[in-house]
Amino acid sequence: MSQLAAVSCGVSVLLLHLVLLWVPPSRAHIPPHNETARVARFVAHHCDWGALATISSHEPVRGQPFANIFSVSDGSRGHGSGVPYFYLTTMEISVQDLQENANTSLTMSLAQTPYCRERHFDPQSPLCAHVIFSGVIEKVDDKENATAKHALFSRHPEMAKWPHDHNWFFAKLNITNIWVLDYFGGIKTVTPDEYYKAKPW
Ligand SMILES: *[C@@H]1O[C@H](CO)[C@@H](O)[C@H](O)[C@H]1NC(C)=O
Ligand SMILES: *[C@@H]1O[C@H](CO)[C@@H](O)[C@H](O)[C@H]1NC(C)=O
Ligand SMILES: *[C@@H]1O[C@H](CO)[C@@H](O)[C@H](O)[C@H]1NC(C)=O
Ligand SMILES: *[C@@H]1O[C@H](CO)[C@@H](O)[C@H](O)[C@H]1NC(C)=O
Repeated sequence: MSQLAAVSCGVSVLLLHLVLLWVPPSRAHIPPHNETARVARFVAHHCDWGALATISSHEPVRGQPFANIFSVSDGSRGHGSGVPYFYLTTMEISVQDLQENANTSLTMSLAQTPYCRERHFDPQSPLCAHVIFSGVIEKVDDKENATAKHALFSRHPEMAKWPHDHNWFFAKLNITNIWVLDYFGGIKTVTPDEYYKAKPW
């Protein structure tokens, strides 16, 4: 074997190893649907964004539901804590709603991952696992800042370049209720306690 062939063979072996190490969401195993809290943790971890519904504080829809997209992360890949963290600015329309009423609902769906696409699960199908959280958005305290920053910036590197004059702050959803749709037979609920105790993988 020539040296060049040997080097290229070594490179292919290395590439193969990298491919085998990286497990995309489509292949990471979703927990069985009888383990609802684990499913919720799985969905929360694999989603990079969600729809956040607030009670609008803006005319002409003041007092009405208002859903908007937010980047979210519960931890760097493979290290989910279950806590949905956000990077927010009060210049944002929904964040202004939260200043009047911090009650919110966050929806995350595996429709945004290859999991549903590869299996041809329509986003509205219960098989395309999705989770709805309700709770309150809270600014994280100084102790939790670094955790929130690592969770978000590792999954959303562009955040580091967001305009510095926007007064970004780290926030989290303090979850009070959880609904899970991942199979036929109706929506299921889990408590925040069950959710945080569950081992997602
Ligand atoms: C879920 O079902 C599997 C078998 O289908 C079983 O092994 C497992 O113990 C069940 N888990 C719970 C939490 O009931
Ligand atoms: C937020 O939700 C809680 C619990 O559901 C409720 O008690 C509270 O009144 C709500 N806050 C506002 C401002 O609507
Ligand atoms: C927490 O993060 C915010 C937003 O990036 C920053 O303004 C604040 O100084 C940080 N606090 C600490 C204690 O690091
Ligand atoms: C979430 O909110 C509840 C009730 O408002 C509060 O008791 C609890 O300390 C909060 N949890 C966290 C993690 O901030």
